[in-house]
Amino acid sequence: MLSYRHSYHAGNFADVLKHTVLTSILDYLLQKDKAFCYLDTHSGCGAYQLDSEQSLKTGEFNNGIAALWEEATLPVPVERYMQQVKAFNGNGALRAYPGSPMICNQMRRDDDRMFLFELHPNEFTNMRGNFSGDRSIKMSKSDGLQGLIANMPPKERRGLVLIDPSYEIKTEYDDVVDTLIAAHRRFATGTYALWYPVVNRTLISKMERLLKASGIKNIQLFELGIEADKEERGMTSSGMIVVNPPWTLQKEMQHSLPFLADKLGINGQGYYRIDTLVAE
Ligand SMILES: C[S@@+](CC[C@H](N)C(=O)[O-])C[C@H]1O[C@@H](n2cnc3c(N)ncnc32)[C@H](O)[C@@H]1O
Repeated sequence: MLSYRHSYHAGNFADVLKHTVLTSILDYLLQKDKAFCYLDTHSGCGAYQLDSEQSLKTGEFNNGIAALWEEATLPVPVERYMQQVKAFNGNGALRAYPGSPMICNQMRRDDDRMFLFELHPNEFTNMRGNFSGDRSIKMSKSDGLQGLIANMPPKERRGLVLIDPSYEIKTEYDDVVDTLIAAHRRFATGTYALWYPVVNRTLISKMERLLKASGIKNIQLFELGIEADKEERGMTSSGMIVVNPPWTLQKEMQHSLPFLADKLGINGQGYYRIDTLVAE
């Protein structure tokens, strides 16, 4: 039974990292006059109200998007991400937050296709409402990891896959790695961005080990933490593992992550990691 709802967490520090990396990759793909395909294995509904009961209950966006909102100067990649959130708010006050499919939809061109998977019935219904009437967006209420394998390679032979599960089931840490390896076998030149939460560091170290041993080349890791790892429940940091990143991504994150760690870290405990897991 799925109980995770992204509305409790939309716009938090993990979304800031995830969506800054996402916009940076999309911006790079958009520089070439050739259509690409975007596949989101765990889409969520795509649009969140920050004054909803769920958002206000956790207040997580306060140490995320809201903490950056009034900043006069941001690193270029963070500013690019911020522009997408501002556009979603009609360039007015911060009231709503765009999920990953919405960010891609705002940035893409008419012939860039999107595949969105969402298993939760309510989230799927909301997603359909948010993206209806566009034939270049294919939406499916089914398992995103199976959907990924079934749709690789995309006919464009250019694409970005976002794998962003809720990790409610312990086996998901292994499943995402197995699926990424299988998808890469079918579409080796695609860019894959895999989000992970650091709740239990051992699980992430295992993911890194498995990916390093997979034979896949060109893997980078970007992590942003607001507190040191701890034993108690709760996410202290999160990261994105990117296969076939744009060559510009590492430099962009070198400009962004120290700023974000400083800005969002709790009592000066913010930190970041930028690692090449496997070289090109
Ligand atoms: C972290 S949220 C996605 C957030 C979204 N990618 C974003 O950045 O705005 C994870 C979503 O995956 C959905 N989900 C869980 N298991 C799934 C599965 N096997 N296939 C597709 N969606 C799933 C959950 O209902 C939830 O809405």
